[in-house]
Amino acid sequence: MTRRKIVAGNWKMNGSLESVVELVQGIQTYATLDVVVAPSFVYLPVVSNMVRDTDIKVAAQNASEQAKGAYTGEVSLSMLQDFSVSHVILGHSERRSLYGETDAQVAQKVAATLAAGLTPILCIGETLEQREAGITLDVCQRQIDAVLDVIGTEEFAKVVVAYEPVWAIGTGKSATSEQAQEVHKGIRDHIAKRSETVAQVVAILYGGSVKASNSAELFAQADIDGALVGGASLDVQEFNSIIESAK
Ligand code: 13P
Repeated sequence: MTRRKIVAGNWKMNGSLESVVELVQGIQTYATLDVVVAPSFVYLPVVSNMVRDTDIKVAAQNASEQAKGAYTGEVSLSMLQDFSVSHVILGHSERRSLYGETDAQVAQKVAATLAAGLTPILCIGETLEQREAGITLDVCQRQIDAVLDVIGTEEFAKVVVAYEPVWAIGTGKSATSEQAQEVHKGIRDHIAKRSETVAQVVAILYGGSVKASNSAELFAQADIDGALVGGASLDVQEFNSIIESAK
């Protein structure tokens, strides 16, 4: 089964109005894959406007599981819909570790995102301690099951999974393509226990120190369907090279 590749840039809390505009202007797209950018919330209106006549898709870096109300500092899915956002990154390890998001809360966010007709990019992955303890797949399976149990197997076909080993995020130390493929296959096999069809459809991206020099090798792996890129997505030449290696 050939799944369409996705290259997504997670800009995190980086950039300025000027640098964000410059970055978007320089991004290349190809008909054969999806290119997604995730600016800070405040730049979503500008970026959405800029990409209107391009093939670039826009993601938010988070969303509230609540529809509306007294939730100071939160952003709802209907607000994101006002700005043509198509994807929402959820459960990023920085949200889990720094802001206390739990598996249960992430599952609610995924459910709310699907109900709004947007595509969740569900981030999962183990810490170095968990890898060294040999429980990488157990951790990933627990994070996936929390979502599967809430949304059901069929709906999971609309979810994009991003496997991001915590030890590889922002460290310059990417998982090797073999290490990544092993976990991606393990995740797909786990989903296949519920539905072989859904497992074949779900895109599983790799994230964690992806750069132009390692992306082609990662993308060549059978179960790696693209990347969620942090630091390297802030450099337009580097990001374009990663995109090109996925086409
Ligand atoms: P880096 O590519 O900077 O390691 O970040 C990965 C990431 O967290 C993407 O969501």
